Amino acid sequence: MQFNKAEFAAAYGSFSQIPACSRMEIAFAGRSNVGKSTLINKIFNRKNLARVSAVPGKTATINFYQLEHVYFVDLPGYGYAKVAKSEKERWAGLIEGYLNSERDIRLIFLLIDMRHAPSADDLHMIDYLVEAELPFVVILTKADKLKKMARQARMEAFAQEIPYFSELTVIPFSSQTFEGVEQVRQIITELAEE
Ligand code: GTP
Ligand code: MG
Repeated sequence: MQFNKAEFAAAYGSFSQIPACSRMEIAFAGRSNVGKSTLINKIFNRKNLARVSAVPGKTATINFYQLEHVYFVDLPGYGYAKVAKSEKERWAGLIEGYLNSERDIRLIFLLIDMRHAPSADDLHMIDYLVEAELPFVVILTKADKLKKMARQARMEAFAQEIPYFSELTVIPFSSQTFEGVEQVRQIITELAEE
């Protein structure tokens, strides 16, 4: 795939606005500020395809990006405490509506910050994906922020904290060093060829 050819397609603020599924979809989910938009920009080798912000809660809509016959779906980040309750409920409705739908979701990349234990929301998300039998891959973001020993300690801790860890595909990722970029592209390429 020519990753740098991806284009923004549309943004939706409620699940009911999303048109019927017309092509395969690959989604990105994770806590607010975990690095979803940054990762999308790295994968597609673009500076501002997805908006990145130091302020959490930036992506408040479901954003669709298109490349060839695939839609890439940036889900709103969950778990951001400082957002009003009504806004949180709207986001939860969006995420659940999307994941519960009959859409052709081929894979969800679930992003978790490598520096910290998974949050309760992260663990709920994993349970949900396992229950719903939705295929997912875990991406551990901000890998550049950990030194070797700390990273090793986190990886050992994740194996205890994340259920089924040894059975999951887990990709350490960094937008700074490009670690993991090719691995993610490879997974996308294989799915797109199916
Ligand atoms: P929401 O849209 O709020 O859900 O956040 P998001 O998950 O899209 O996060 P975003 O990509 O906006 O990144 C949040 C912050 O983390 C920004 O300041 C990024 O520059 C930073 N960041 C993201 N990925 C990395 C990484 O791999 N390494 C480092 N050092 N910083 C990162
Ligand atoms: Mg974002």
